Amino acid sequence: MEQFINAIPKAELHIHIEGSLEPELMFAIAARNGVELPYRSVEEVRRAYEFTNLQSFLDIYYAGARVLQREDDFYDLAWAYFERARAQNVRHAEIFFDPQTHTGRGVPFSAVINGLHRAVTDARVRLGISARLILCFLRHLSADAVMVTLREALPYRERIVAVGLDSSEVGHPPEKFAAVFDTARQEGFLTVAHAGEEGPPEYIRQALDLLGAARIDHGVRCLEDPALVARLVAEEVPLTVCPLSNVKLRVFSNMAQHNLKQLLEAGLVVTVNSDDPAYFGGYVSENYLAAAQALHLDRATLVRLAENSFRAAFLPEDEKSVLLAELAAVADKFS
Ligand code: ADE
Ligand code: ZN
Repeated sequence: MEQFINAIPKAELHIHIEGSLEPELMFAIAARNGVELPYRSVEEVRRAYEFTNLQSFLDIYYAGARVLQREDDFYDLAWAYFERARAQNVRHAEIFFDPQTHTGRGVPFSAVINGLHRAVTDARVRLGISARLILCFLRHLSADAVMVTLREALPYRERIVAVGLDSSEVGHPPEKFAAVFDTARQEGFLTVAHAGEEGPPEYIRQALDLLGAARIDHGVRCLEDPALVARLVAEEVPLTVCPLSNVKLRVFSNMAQHNLKQLLEAGLVVTVNSDDPAYFGGYVSENYLAAAQALHLDRATLVRLAENSFRAAFLPEDEKSVLLAELAAVADKFS
């Protein structure tokens, strides 16, 4: 099973690049930037990764991101992710980045985007991974602050495929950002949004109706609202589900309780992703594996999840067809 999961070509559509900062790299970058960490060792960092909800994670995640200051830091961060992704046969990755986490500390937007973009280019040339960047706005900040960040991004328009919405969900509904997302769409960005992770199904509706979201990140709470599920199915709105994240942040008490199988059975376009792999115990293959083992998913279901990942990607149809054909060929070899 492990071998099969690793071998099948897949896309990853929900990965926060700051959430791929492994403790070893955190220490290395902290040392070269002269940043003091509140931890003495890599082991101590890992021991601190016990979370009770989304906010308890975000506090530690934003603290870890403080080491990132220079363009090379962002390059090294993204490159480390791409190498791991390649080892798991990720052929396409759509990567969130949180510029406000950095510009709020005085790091120039240009350092963030130039470092990430250089890694995206190298990933294509050296690893054969196609990658796109998705700029995520921090929803705990004001709509005015978010609009400033959107304007900062406009000169880099060609390097960013979409904008998204992340951070503390409850109390920060999508409607707060309707005007910013209108502007983003007028500027030609696609849109996605985290919704229905901790927040109610109503936030998923708002993400669709007010933000024009082409995909919903997480979205697992949609099952509480059958009419919403019917709509998501009819409109084929993909959900980027992150099983290990949901268990670590206690959206579900354990993997056997995860609703991934019900989501699939409802006819939703479900994809499996890692969210913040350095914090949640695994990259995309570990997410497939943990779900497969706890929920007894068969190979056909795993192939379906990988197919969905390509179908839901922001890629031209001809590129999707090539990747789907590769997936079918690899899956065939195992049967
Ligand atoms: N930022 C990084 N990971 C996140 C998550 N799972 N939910 C909301 N914001 C995030
Ligand atoms: Zn996320």
